[in-house]
Amino acid sequence: MPQQFEIIRVTPDDLDALMYVEREVFFELSASKETMLERMRYYPAGTWGAVREGRMIGFVNSFRVDLDFAPEEYGDTDVRKVGRPDGAALYVASLNVLPRERGQGIGTSLMRHILDRAEDDGIRRVVLVASSLSAPLYARLGFSRVKELPGFMHTPHPIFPDPVLMERKILE
Ligand SMILES: CC(C)(COP(=O)(O)OP(=O)(O)OC[C@H]1O[C@@H](n2cnc3c(N)ncnc32)[C@H](O)[C@@H]1OP(=O)(O)O)[C@@H](O)C(=O)NCCC(=O)NCCS
Repeated sequence: MPQQFEIIRVTPDDLDALMYVEREVFFELSASKETMLERMRYYPAGTWGAVREGRMIGFVNSFRVDLDFAPEEYGDTDVRKVGRPDGAALYVASLNVLPRERGQGIGTSLMRHILDRAEDDGIRRVVLVASSLSAPLYARLGFSRVKELPGFMHTPHPIFPDPVLMERKILE
């Protein structure tokens, strides 16, 4: 039977634990610690961790952007160019769960947390880039496919096959 986990708000003090998960999932494609910190500055309520017995086993990391934000025009390093503290859209930059902890609903639970919080904060659109592996998870949460992004960042990559832009409207 899957073990319990709790969802906590991640602060800059938890950054080392978050980076451990990031590197275990994305290896050489990992975002830097500085980039993570910068994203957290643009939306302090946008990073949540799944914790079991005091250990972080997954996290979601997002930041606010303009409504017409296009992830394909953003690399990984320029958060300051596209982040907007009061932006009407939310960009989910990463959702990661340690490989051995997958398939227990942790990723879905983290995303639900982000969506509930975004609604409370008046965010109107949530946007992300999924792979063909993760797209079904997001589709179940109400995201729809916008377009394929074959050249997105360092992809195509086995960890992230067939990148696709997905979005979910929150308030019309
Ligand atoms: C995506 C991810 C966070 C899901 O975590 P999780 O706790 O297993 O999620 P859940 O248990 O809530 O949902 C499982 C779903 O994840 C998706 N999934 C399964 N393996 C996956 C993988 N290797 N990579 C991405 N998504 C995967 C499937 O849609 C699966 O649904 P299914 O069981 O019906 O096939 C996790 O697989 C992961 O960290 N993957 C690598 C990083 C990544 O691709 N992140 C998402 C894009 S930024």
